[in-house]
Amino acid sequence: MSVTRAQGFDRLAVHAGNRGLSVDHADAARRAAALVESMTLEQKFHELRGWQRQPIDGLYYAGGDDDLGIPALRMVDGPRGARAGKATAFPVAMARGASFDVMLERRVGLAIGREVAARGGNVLLAPTINLLRHPGWGRAQETYSEDPHHMGAMAAAFVSGAQNHVLTSPKHFALNNLENTRFELSADVGMRALHEVYLPHFKRCVQEAAAASVMSAYNKVNGVYCGEHPLLLGDILRVDWGFQGFVESDWILGTRSTAAALTAGLDIEMPAPYRFSDQSLAQALADGDLDPRVVDRAVTRVLHQKLAWNLDRPGPADPSVVECDEHVALALEAAEKSLVLLKNAGALPLDDRDGVDIAVVGNLADEVNLGDRGSSFVTSSQVTTVLAGLQLHVKHARVRSLPVDGDWSSLADADVTVVVAGLTYREEGEFIPTAQQEAEGGALARGGDRADLALPEHQRELIERAVAQSRRVVVVLEGGSAITVDEWLDAVDALVMAWYPGREGGHAAARALFGEVNVFGRLPLSIPRSGADLVPWDVAALHVPHDLLHGYRYLDHHGTEPAFPFGFGLSYTTFELSDLTVTRSGVGFAVEVRVTNTGAREGSAVPQLYVSCRNSSVFRVDKELKGFGRLELAAGEAAILALEIRDDDLRYFDEAAGGWRLEPCRYELRLGQSSRDLPLMSAWTFDGVSWQAAASP
Ligand code: GLC
Repeated sequence: MSVTRAQGFDRLAVHAGNRGLSVDHADAARRAAALVESMTLEQKFHELRGWQRQPIDGLYYAGGDDDLGIPALRMVDGPRGARAGKATAFPVAMARGASFDVMLERRVGLAIGREVAARGGNVLLAPTINLLRHPGWGRAQETYSEDPHHMGAMAAAFVSGAQNHVLTSPKHFALNNLENTRFELSADVGMRALHEVYLPHFKRCVQEAAAASVMSAYNKVNGVYCGEHPLLLGDILRVDWGFQGFVESDWILGTRSTAAALTAGLDIEMPAPYRFSDQSLAQALADGDLDPRVVDRAVTRVLHQKLAWNLDRPGPADPSVVECDEHVALALEAAEKSLVLLKNAGALPLDDRDGVDIAVVGNLADEVNLGDRGSSFVTSSQVTTVLAGLQLHVKHARVRSLPVDGDWSSLADADVTVVVAGLTYREEGEFIPTAQQEAEGGALARGGDRADLALPEHQRELIERAVAQSRRVVVVLEGGSAITVDEWLDAVDALVMAWYPGREGGHAAARALFGEVNVFGRLPLSIPRSGADLVPWDVAALHVPHDLLHGYRYLDHHGTEPAFPFGFGLSYTTFELSDLTVTRSGVGFAVEVRVTNTGAREGSAVPQLYVSCRNSSVFRVDKELKGFGRLELAAGEAAILALEIRDDDLRYFDEAAGGWRLEPCRYELRLGQSSRDLPLMSAWTFDGVSWQAAASP
């Protein structure tokens, strides 16, 4: 069988069609400057804020002037689909993060961008890329990962896909990692952790994927609100990174001032004129607090993107693409590839032969559970639950469901019990009262952060009841982040993390449980044995320390075993990594590894490359992810995965020098199938000038 060769991150393929990479900035700058010259002060002011608090058909408008031929920005949420009318509800971003499939994420971004454009939108308020510092974060479901490299790869792919159709707005810049106190908290961080851990994925979206805008965060960083943060919005975003887009605030409390915000680099107040009202702006100019050139700078930035993207000449909106067959099929594929098989003591795939009796229990088994009811909420015309999926895909066996408050004694007759348990928008999510919540008779979905990572008591009881009365138990967990499972894991025979799997989640879960597909993903976060094993977490905190340690980095540093490590996931087959070759390339290292499917059926492998720096003159975490790929391999098939590691990715941020430094020390490139399974290594020493392959210890 010939051995194919695949790239872990094919930049050309990932970024194809991203209009942000092909705009004529010089022409846009020239035209924007000329236009600003011709504008009155009121016309300029109008470009610097949204129109009104409530969206119009899901669209938040900003700026625009028919007399001047300036189009309005028409912004639409969000990370899991278009929040405008009905739309394809994709699996949440954390689920897609588990796919470790950057080309899939590009396609999801492209599909969501298409549906936003179909609704008349021209800016997609996504992706959410705040790092998962702690899995208790209420909006964990909206982001991809606890790791900045993995996040950057997935987010850049999403941005490039979506920017085939619309502008994107990676958010929330920056360090918005806690929900309950997000409007007031200060994320306190040193420059090294800021640059090495909490910003690389934003930088990649800006520099590599040419994100057309960025949304600033509600919170403070080191005591200064992000919406008026000169270091973040000016020195780093503009001067360091060369960002050429505009910065819009988060809604309402994302803008805290007039002159300070504009001067720091906030360009648009959303969703409506409060701090950037005509009166406030005129007063700030009159008082001399606001330099007129700062107003012109902000207006120029906004017009630059409008002209560069020809927003005055939008393509025809084609509503037929919304929830089209292609997008629905993509939602299914994304859901299937995001499921993570965490335990399988022989219970899966489910036996589907005549006479087999499969019982399904749990209030979530047949509840639509797409994620939180915050700004990332999406309404699909059809959602398939896990129970419905099992009933649709079973061929010969019998699938029966029992009500939660019913008699479960007949479970003893079932060959297997499938328990669907987990979280809903009631236990986690963005906390803002939404029409949806109010429509539920005031059942205000608290959402917010989770202080405790365990299942709610009533969900644990479901599992315990099933275990007590069943011969075999398969647990399907729904949720947007890590859920601790140690209390009941030993008592169950299989465990699948399904996340919030989107409108096709029931089909995906059923096809995976019956073994029709074997395309499981891997964990984009660490699942600890206990929440106490992770960074200290206080959901009422007003000061949140951020440093180099969280997730697998924190667990490594403290020598703590996780329940399931970052990058972990089982399959119905097995894989072997071998023949690691590492050579110096122009920009760093060219890495190749042979991946063989050593099992009896096809499956998905996710080789991962971590780098450890030894003998460093500064503190270093034990290892950092610097590369990964995903391969679909037939039984017995082998392929070569090619990864590129750039020297720039191995640098640390030298706070004293205020810049990046490639340190002379020993670098160990470690390959494996999870952050705790790295059998292959290639060691190199850098002396400050050249690299030498080093003997492995
Ligand atoms: C919110 C969210 C942001 C969203 C915006 C518009 O408060 O923080 O992610 O895009 O409002 O809905």
